[in-house]
Amino acid sequence: MNLFLVLLAAVASPAFAALELVPGATWTASNGEHLQAHGAGFIEEDGTYYMIGEDKTNGTNFLNVNCYSSSDLVQWKYVGALLSQVDSGDLGPGRVVERPKVIYNDDTKEYVLWAHIDSSNYSEAKVGVATGNSVCGKYNYLGSFQPKGNVSRDMTLFKDDDGSGYLITEDRPTGLHIYKLTDDYHNITSETYLFPDPGQIEAPALMKRDGLYYLFGSRLTGWSDNDNVYTTSKSLSSGWADWKTFADVGSKTYSSQTTYVLSIDENRAMYMGDRWVSDDLMTSSYIWLPLNVSGEDVTMEWYDQWVPNLTSESGFQTAPSNTTIEGESGKYSGGAKNISCSGCSGGQAAGYIGGPDQGSVTLSGIEVKDSTATTITFQYRNGDSETRYANVTFNDSPPQKVSFLSTGGNVKRSVISTELKAGKDNTIIIEGYDTGYGPDIDTVEVPLE
Ligand SMILES: *[C@@H]1O[C@H](CO)[C@@H](O)[C@H](O)[C@H]1NC(C)=O
Ligand SMILES: *[C@@H]1O[C@H](CO)[C@@H](O)[C@H](O)[C@H]1NC(C)=O
Ligand SMILES: *[C@@H]1O[C@H](CO)[C@@H](O)[C@H](O)[C@H]1NC(C)=O
Ligand SMILES: *[C@@H]1O[C@H](CO)[C@@H](O)[C@H](O)[C@H]1NC(C)=O
Ligand SMILES: *[C@@H]1O[C@H](CO)[C@@H](O)[C@H](O)[C@H]1NC(C)=O
Ligand SMILES: *[C@@H]1O[C@H](CO)[C@@H](O)[C@H](O)[C@H]1NC(C)=O
Ligand SMILES: *[C@@H]1O[C@H](CO)[C@@H](O)[C@H](O)[C@H]1NC(C)=O
Ligand SMILES: *[C@@H]1O[C@H](CO)[C@@H](O)[C@H](O)[C@H]1NC(C)=O
Ligand SMILES: *[C@@H]1O[C@H](CO)[C@@H](O)[C@H](O)[C@H]1NC(C)=O
Repeated sequence: MNLFLVLLAAVASPAFAALELVPGATWTASNGEHLQAHGAGFIEEDGTYYMIGEDKTNGTNFLNVNCYSSSDLVQWKYVGALLSQVDSGDLGPGRVVERPKVIYNDDTKEYVLWAHIDSSNYSEAKVGVATGNSVCGKYNYLGSFQPKGNVSRDMTLFKDDDGSGYLITEDRPTGLHIYKLTDDYHNITSETYLFPDPGQIEAPALMKRDGLYYLFGSRLTGWSDNDNVYTTSKSLSSGWADWKTFADVGSKTYSSQTTYVLSIDENRAMYMGDRWVSDDLMTSSYIWLPLNVSGEDVTMEWYDQWVPNLTSESGFQTAPSNTTIEGESGKYSGGAKNISCSGCSGGQAAGYIGGPDQGSVTLSGIEVKDSTATTITFQYRNGDSETRYANVTFNDSPPQKVSFLSTGGNVKRSVISTELKAGKDNTIIIEGYDTGYGPDIDTVEVPLE
């Protein structure tokens, strides 16, 4: 227990249901699909956050750089693709486009995107640049190159307070470079700093708070995770401290790799990481956790779920207690029935949801204290190699398509947010989507207060 949690408890005392982040769960966006914005960057504009990342539906093969928007960091609307596959060239079939990052140029009024551009065997090791007139619109691809003839793989962009742009990029033979961008952000000018540490750090992410720069990154272990590290300095060009861990040592950054660090306000900063699934990259999940930043010290604890409430001033909040409803306690129709499930609570689940016999389960009499947006967690099982979907109806709201990634027979989590109404009268109906089978529902967890 630390000060952070004590603070949280005080803030959480007035009863409220909550929008929660559940790291590692299936996160369904407005299009009914698990978010496809891996290796993402973020940009905020007028209270809206844009998440820009890789569509990994076809593994490492480039399909799209996707853009999603949200005002609460929990509910994500799929807006569209900034870049999509074309017939040939850098964005053609079988190409690699990773870690897209966008910064806005105040002078040219352009959004400028940089990404790691590569061939399918990662032998080209270049950066590519594209520009757009609106943050989530179509971007115009300008081309690719190696900065100063150097290898460039994992990378990020950083826009400083004075408007200067920087590229931070991993060059295995030489080290991690910080290059200054030209005024239009289309190219690099000089090298600002080289970490004299060849081959040690990738997945860079940089933020600045109170005049101090914080650079995060991972060690080089491919798609496998490791204990990620950070360093601080008052200047980008000198004085960087030794690399230190920030998450529990041995947790391998809670099984994730840094992609971005978001400084929200003086009380809050957030770590955004990818939990890669190397043999099925589209099922990779998102590990977002609060960062405790205190001068040069940064720490990060694990939370199964937490509330990144952007309207609360004191910090992030712990998740309220929840009501756990067993799937098998529901009322069945169609082909749905109790099934045994070894990893499930009570050894049972609601099975045969959807399918040719249109199975469904209805859970009713669910209590919440306030009528507000809230995040529902499904503990489920999906033994297929493909994603299953359910058509989920909360009270009188229109049905929502919810994704349930393959769980390989284990029990995992999928979350979706909705408005429930104060009282004991809430109902959730889980049906199949079209004619496919839905997931086996172990439990449904509903935040109570
Ligand atoms: C944040 O970390 C500092 C040490 O760096 C510690 O003293 C403090 O209690 C932590 N605060 C929270 C809110 O966890
Ligand atoms: C956010 O925090 C404020 C202030 O503590 C609270 O009134 C509000 O209900 C919270 N909102 C959500 C969505 O949790
Ligand atoms: C998907 O990847 C496979 C190779 O894994 C490739 O043959 C196919 O063309 C890709 N599809 C698209 C649309 O790029
Ligand atoms: C990588 O692929 C390119 C074609 O894109 C080929 O020319 C090159 O020999 C390959 N390199 C290795 C190391 O396999
Ligand atoms: C790579 O970067 C270093 C400085 O970090 C520079 O000395 C070198 O000339 C660059 N180019 C190549 C091809 O190594
Ligand atoms: C980037 O700058 C270098 C050095 O000034 C120049 O040679 C190169 O053509 C520029 N690249 C682009 C894409 O403008
Ligand atoms: C719900 O509460 C149970 C304990 O009752 C806890 O194990 C679980 O993590 C909670 N889940 C959520 C999503 O809050
Ligand atoms: C399913 O299992 C639950 C818990 O054992 C039991 O209460 C319920 O009656 C069963 N439902 C059916 C339809 O058999
Ligand atoms: C979703 O559920 C609603 C309400 O039962 C139904 O009208 C609709 O056809 C379902 N949609 C799909 C795609 O299964």
